[in-house]
Amino acid sequence: MAKTRVYELAKELGLESKLVLARAQELGIEVKTASSGLDEDGVAVVKLSFQESAEAVAPEPAPAESAPAETPVGEAPVEERAVPPAVVEPAPAATVIEGDEPVEDRILEVTEGITAHEFGRLIGERTGEIVRQLMNMGQIVPGGGQIPVDAIEPLGAHFGWEVLVELAPEDESVDEGRQRSLVEYEDDPASLEPRPPVVVIMGHVDHGKTQLLDSIRSANVVAGEAGGITQHIGAYQIDRDGSKITFIDTPGHEAFTALRARGADVTDIAIIVVAANDGVMPQTVEAINHAKAAGVPIIVAINKMDLESADPVRVRAALTQYDLVVEELGGDIVSAEVSALTGAGVDELLEMISIVAEVEELKANPKAAAVGTVIEAELEVGRGAMATVIVQRGTLKKGDALVAGAVSGRVRAMFDENGKQLSSAGPSTPVLITGWGDVPAAGDMFQVVENERIARKLADAEADRIRAADFVVPTATERLGALLETLRTEDHAELRLIIKADAHGSLEALRDAVGKIKRDDGKVTIIHAGVGGITANDVMLAEASEGIIYGFNARPDTSARKAAKEQAIDIRTFSIIYEMLDDIESLLIGELAPDEVERFLGVAEVRATFRAPRYGMVAGSYVTEGEINRNATARLVRDGVVVYEGRIASLRRFKEDVQTVAQGFECGIGLENFRDIKEGDTIESFEVRHVART
Ligand code: GTP
Ligand code: MG
Repeated sequence: MAKTRVYELAKELGLESKLVLARAQELGIEVKTASSGLDEDGVAVVKLSFQESAEAVAPEPAPAESAPAETPVGEAPVEERAVPPAVVEPAPAATVIEGDEPVEDRILEVTEGITAHEFGRLIGERTGEIVRQLMNMGQIVPGGGQIPVDAIEPLGAHFGWEVLVELAPEDESVDEGRQRSLVEYEDDPASLEPRPPVVVIMGHVDHGKTQLLDSIRSANVVAGEAGGITQHIGAYQIDRDGSKITFIDTPGHEAFTALRARGADVTDIAIIVVAANDGVMPQTVEAINHAKAAGVPIIVAINKMDLESADPVRVRAALTQYDLVVEELGGDIVSAEVSALTGAGVDELLEMISIVAEVEELKANPKAAAVGTVIEAELEVGRGAMATVIVQRGTLKKGDALVAGAVSGRVRAMFDENGKQLSSAGPSTPVLITGWGDVPAAGDMFQVVENERIARKLADAEADRIRAADFVVPTATERLGALLETLRTEDHAELRLIIKADAHGSLEALRDAVGKIKRDDGKVTIIHAGVGGITANDVMLAEASEGIIYGFNARPDTSARKAAKEQAIDIRTFSIIYEMLDDIESLLIGELAPDEVERFLGVAEVRATFRAPRYGMVAGSYVTEGEINRNATARLVRDGVVVYEGRIASLRRFKEDVQTVAQGFECGIGLENFRDIKEGDTIESFEVRHVART
């Protein structure tokens, strides 16, 4: 159950935290600091006690002498420490101790960070005396220096005082003002109310995602789009006989996974659109795997049923290959035949969404301060930064102060998908918000806080954190190390793989073999497998699902390599099946096999090919990254697939033999005993190093 912290209660009562803390302690409630929590009964008792003794509440004026002039500590307001609490602390002037004899009831309350000088004043001892005693206790503290928090109580005891130490208010700001992820909010089950499902529509290009959404909300989005291709994620809510459904239109699973990679799990249900005339296509498969990796229920919409060539039976059969067995074939995946164009079957699809949502029992607390996710954001001329957000918990209201990552703001205006102004938005509602200080990042959580000052403070803190984190990006090795640690120590460890291979045959062989790799209490899951090179999409999926990418004779392209480097994602490539299987097996038990580690040197693009009498085939190339080294190993890659690996026979620039060619330069490359070079191929240059098992 949610607890009320002492400082929150104090704020509510308009009193100082320490006063409330002391009172609670007096009443026998177990609270140690201003950040300690009180249960409902505790809160009631404390409130009652203040009501009963209203006169005790009025703080006594601070005696002038007890206000230390210097050394404010951190953000601790000086006066908080300086003003003696009315209830427990005797007025210093009246209680200056005469002699060493301990006086009863000498209770003193101080805040962490108090200096020797301040402490001396409060108990009526000379600063030198305090410093000396601290020295006796093994603490070297100058007069203006802070007393270590652990030393305060024994120090007080020495002088005959019982000291209550309130921990520094830093604690408060941490508790009150941290940006939290949605999962950190715990709501009392009694406060939860049903909320509409948030649905994402994914599928192959031109299979009718936008048209379907369009048909669902009967507004013409397709016509308004540049070239009919979805440019951005829009979010809309529809009302179907009183039950609402929220849709996110994405240009594909990339955007969906990009949001997930940023930590935003907004969607409850994924609809995979498959055109009945076209069937299951590569991006359909990717979409399926991305949805599966997110662990959301899938509904299949078989679209374009109005076409002569529509073949839904074939679509359903093809889906079984990807472990999507529809109800018609004895499985549990719901599917619907629709025509986005004519609108046929669309209502049945909506019905299915409602049914699936019902099973999910989607709920949220609508009464809390709003928390949610930024779906998209942009700067609009004349209106400033705008962001579409989906509220996930609580209710967002006009005027609310909010923070999303490093950006803060205040809800100036809220609009629904039809441009209508709203004054509040509850769970699962998509709204467009104006009033941001800057453009927030899609995928960031937003959260409503008490006021704009706090919002700004949190945003600044996040900006600082981001800046600092820039300097300490984990390397792929560190990230892998952390994963290995989890695999070693966690029960039910799961190693998630994305496998790309050069051909269907090898992919199937790998699938079979990987399926047989087992460990007690641990398993390997292939979250995506495909033929061809490793793409930036694969990297994003790996990042969102904490997976590892394996390439079997398949290589990352430049953007994948860049993304992998940025996100510290490990890409492990092999050309021998059992070596790759060994590697997976070692990872599963949290170890790294002794390895030949490859150091990537650079890559060149083949722009033309020439036959040269002495060198055989020469590739007129342009170095796009790093450098090509004459003595390093070379690899010829075509469409992401490794075609050749071996040595460089010749490396020339303007008829001169050279050792290296750097990025941005052209050169001629000949490969040893290999002539099948084509325009558009890439040639990678790399070194191999042996490393021991880690
Ligand atoms: P991208 O956003 O580019 O990935 O495509 P999309 O999946 O959103 O497809 P879109 O909705 O733009 O539809 C692509 C084309 O298919 C358009 O010309 C639509 O008119 C057409 N189309 C969509 N649904 C149907 C349908 O049910 N029947 C027929 N005959 N055509 C359809
Ligand atoms: Mg579209």
